[in-house]
Amino acid sequence: MFDERAIPGSAQAYIYSMEKVNLAQKLLEISDSWNPRIAGTLNGQHVKLVKFKGEFVWHHHEKEDELFYVIKGSFDMHLRDKIITVNQGEFLIVPRGMEHKPVASEEVEVMLFEPATTLNTGNIENELTKKELDSI
Ligand code: NI
Repeated sequence: MFDERAIPGSAQAYIYSMEKVNLAQKLLEISDSWNPRIAGTLNGQHVKLVKFKGEFVWHHHEKEDELFYVIKGSFDMHLRDKIITVNQGEFLIVPRGMEHKPVASEEVEVMLFEPATTLNTGNIENELTKKELDSI
């Protein structure tokens, strides 16, 4: 089953270590905010786990659509013309090019699904920017 042509970090490379992922267990390993961890890789996309608390920065992504799925808690996604509250068990897709700013009054656990190229702060670079993400 092992494919030597598998691209490191791709789903194929995980054939030997293929395991299911328990979200609650993985989230126990995260104690900081706004620092996404890579929990899975497929088709050039990353499944990321992250905790939000407080206010992020306005930004957009030129080429990537982003999916935010709330595992536990809720947060407000600020858009320029409205605010969408995303509750536990719900997801929101922010299309490429659309400015957005997540705000979480209480800590919220979120799964992101987006292309591996996606930078968390999009077109903005500041102290919240995470260029290298850890795997979890
Ligand atoms: Ni974004």
